[in-house]
Amino acid sequence: MINSTIKHLTFITLIIIGFSISFTSCYYDVEQELYPKPIDNGISCDTSTATFSVKIYPLIQSKCNSCHSTAISSGGVSLEGYNNVLSAQQNGSLMGTINHSNGYNAMPQGAGKLSDCEIANLNTWIHAGALNN
Ligand code: HEC
Repeated sequence: MINSTIKHLTFITLIIIGFSISFTSCYYDVEQELYPKPIDNGISCDTSTATFSVKIYPLIQSKCNSCHSTAISSGGVSLEGYNNVLSAQQNGSLMGTINHSNGYNAMPQGAGKLSDCEIANLNTWIHAGALNN
């Protein structure tokens, strides 16, 4: 009697182990579902914080100010501070150079084009009025 109970329990345990192995082996991670990528890869881009202080100026500082500051104004252009960035935005040269549009030198010079997500943040900021926010 005890012997057959043990046999039953062993049998049931083996079935459970078998099932869990077959389920775990089917488990897989889809990288793009776990870690959404920026819009460049067609997934997502967070433009909800596209303000001058949070997204725009840090981007200009890291990608442009090395050549466009008050001290080093390549091509006569300084992008140091809100007013200078705003006037480049207003005369069209900010997005003309960043988008590699005809008639503008492609910026940032000597480096890759800004990512689609960075450009989407710039456009969001501009469409919201290019505020000093
Ligand atoms: C490695 C240096 C360098 C970096 C980084 C750089 N620029 Fe320039 N930029 C230049 C030079 C040099 C010129 C002058 C034109 C030329 O010789 O190509 C220029 C010209 C410009 C002009 C004048 C318009 C035109 O078509 O020439 C604008 C606007 C501009 N850059 C914007 C930017 C922006 C925005 C960034 C960052 C996304 C940036 N630049 C990054 C070197 C740089």
